[in-house]
Amino acid sequence: LPKVLVYQDGMNAQDLGKLLHREPAEIVKKLFMLGMMVNQNQSLDKDAIELLATDYGIEAKEKENVNVSDIDKFFNEEEHNTDYQESRPPVVTIMGHVDHGKTTLLDYLRHSHITAGEAGGITQAIGAYQLKHGDQTITFLDTPGHAAFTAMRARGADITDVTVLVVAADDGVMPQTVEAIDHAKAAGTPIIVAVNKIDKPNANPQHVKEHLMNYGLVPEDFGGDTIFVDISAKNGTNVDELLNMILLQSEVLELKANPKQNGAGSVVEARLDKGKGPVATLLVQQGTLHVGDPIVVGDTFGRVRTMTNENGKDIKDAKPSTPVEITGLNDVPEAGDRFIVFNNEKTARAAGEERAKESQIEERKQNNRVTLDNLFDSM
Ligand code: GTP
Ligand code: MG
Repeated sequence: LPKVLVYQDGMNAQDLGKLLHREPAEIVKKLFMLGMMVNQNQSLDKDAIELLATDYGIEAKEKENVNVSDIDKFFNEEEHNTDYQESRPPVVTIMGHVDHGKTTLLDYLRHSHITAGEAGGITQAIGAYQLKHGDQTITFLDTPGHAAFTAMRARGADITDVTVLVVAADDGVMPQTVEAIDHAKAAGTPIIVAVNKIDKPNANPQHVKEHLMNYGLVPEDFGGDTIFVDISAKNGTNVDELLNMILLQSEVLELKANPKQNGAGSVVEARLDKGKGPVATLLVQQGTLHVGDPIVVGDTFGRVRTMTNENGKDIKDAKPSTPVEITGLNDVPEAGDRFIVFNNEKTARAAGEERAKESQIEERKQNNRVTLDNLFDSM
């Protein structure tokens, strides 16, 4: 017999038998002697379980209840702590067809808008960064690629506020342009179209505009409400105008968050580093994340050991819309996983383990599902 029975309300004789190293039949019999007629599968209330433990001469303790769905619930608008709200920078994703100039645009932005003091060939450490335009900040997520974006969306992580759709004016609307439009629409983000490569002699921005109308993106000069900006990512033409439009669009969205609560947000990417262990790039979406915070990230958990910004500089806290890289997790989470800070490490660990167990069970269920393929495999 264990010294303490750590139980959960609603356990049945089978569950308790396992914890007490006794046959379920014995538990049923004992309960019967205590005046309770139950079968092995019937769930028992606290009183019954405590009585049983006392009868065995051991202490009963209810397991600390961690509600794993809290993390998901947290992202439900109603559940947010809205007592206190501050405006936050927009989170922008750049999408578009292969070779239409996404990376060139991001490179131009990074080099022309890095904050003073940081200038001069910084190597970007993480797949997300912030830049200043005037006195305002914009967070850019380096194009995660369509597969990663789809995976993140499938996991319910809509972390983008505004999508910038890059379309090369010499190439026009292509399959991945359409795919990007679908992603943005599914995520419910406004789309700003950046018609790129207008410096090229064969550029035809007008044609791009006309073509995109077939997909519901109607420019203002055609009576619609989609913002189009003709740019050259290579020369930087109209890139400032594009930033103005991003900020204008964001203003309409009235993006706010409460920096005074526990940090919460999503994983942008994660990997295993030989020296540092699991490393995760997180986007803080609510609250403030601090070094030392006990944290649950998807099925993983730990304490924020180190936190760095996009330039690899150590920082102590990160407010909403800030991308950071952290270490200190017990395992590598997945892109799109959500994270939340707990008040103490014990609860964080319990929640993390609970979530890991749940997804294992879920995975087992998936694998056990009979499909025509595995039915024939097993015959
Ligand atoms: P993937 O990441 O492969 O999907 O491509 P991308 O969209 O990031 O395109 P990238 O920025 O790599 O640009 C592709 C090519 O187009 C490069 O050779 C760029 O130099 C060129 N390019 C990008 N923007 C411009 C532009 O405004 N004008 C001209 N002339 N060339 C450009
Ligand atoms: Mg690229």
